[in-house]
Amino acid sequence: MASCDVVVIGGGVIGLVTAWRAAQRGLRVAVADPRPGGGAAQVAAGMLAAVTELHHGEEALLALNLASAARYPAFAAELADAAGAGIGYRACGTLAVALDADDRALLRDLHQLQQRCGLDTRWLTGRECRKLEPMLAPGVRGGLRVDGDHQADPRLLTAALLTACQRAGVTFHRREAREVTVTAGGDRATGVVLDDGTALAAGQTVLAGGSRSAGLAGLPPGVEVPVRPVKGQILRLRIPPECAPFLSRTVRAVVRGGHVYLVPRVSGELVVGATSEELGWDTAVTAGGVYQLLRDAHELVPGITELPLVETRAGLRPTTPDNAPLLGPSELPGLHLATGHHRNGVLLAPITGEALAESLVTGELPDYARPFHARRFSRTGREVPA
Ligand code: GLY
Repeated sequence: MASCDVVVIGGGVIGLVTAWRAAQRGLRVAVADPRPGGGAAQVAAGMLAAVTELHHGEEALLALNLASAARYPAFAAELADAAGAGIGYRACGTLAVALDADDRALLRDLHQLQQRCGLDTRWLTGRECRKLEPMLAPGVRGGLRVDGDHQADPRLLTAALLTACQRAGVTFHRREAREVTVTAGGDRATGVVLDDGTALAAGQTVLAGGSRSAGLAGLPPGVEVPVRPVKGQILRLRIPPECAPFLSRTVRAVVRGGHVYLVPRVSGELVVGATSEELGWDTAVTAGGVYQLLRDAHELVPGITELPLVETRAGLRPTTPDNAPLLGPSELPGLHLATGHHRNGVLLAPITGEALAESLVTGELPDYARPFHARRFSRTGREVPA
């Protein structure tokens, strides 16, 4: 039986950043995943949209999102250094625009909420929006300039994390974790069994399985992992050099109640996302989903119809009842959660890695992560013990 200090179930962006940070703290770490570096980040657009994706009732989450966004420049530099490759961090800002009177009312409401939260965003007229982004449709009625919402490339991010983990001595088991193992009395997690029967003993186990985090075998009754999949379909287009610069920042809108965003990368990729669908484990790319995205993106930026469409994908956001992540010690001693990041997995990667490493080393989450402790939906809803 192999043994280590920490076994991380799931090698997506959250599992990898947790493994990397834990290894940096001197722990012997293993990751169990048949395809490490895969997961939702392969589909995600990589918007770091703490301010533009603010919702009523999510002010506590805003604080975590902003704290993670603030860590991004140093995180990107450190990771690039550790991996020898960048993560496509681009401090380009975001412009959220309105196409009709209803959209404008929604955007005005968001602006008021942002102002109440002390955020620095500026209302622009349609003309001012088009001056910033000349490819916008002439009908744009106004917009919000959000200079602090940037982007990273999730595929580069996971590749860099994978290399950084390997260089930090993290061991990879390219198998599915079949079940969590517990002591005879069922009072502590002791590691995992992989799908080939290999047992990995670990002092602490981290469940970072994204949308697949719920339903892992072996968890005793009362250990809740309330995560469900929320489907997102997304497109990738290519901006030929002769069309660059097509957009200089992320551009987004709410069109007929659905969010559409266009994320232009330095590489020439233009990501158009994303649908949001409660369809369980369905990851089919549908004609309706692609049509909706192209229709809405075309209303926003008519010139996109000239661009080559190079990829269509669907992924699953791991979503909790309050749209915020589950972090740190669970109901079962020895089992930590790092999952449920919903729309914010890429944004929250730096702070999640830091918070989980701290809770693995000290047994306590840092103050900024305590509102998101992993036991808040359990029957007792107990706070993380000090
Ligand atoms: N954060 C963007 C999305 O989940 O679609």
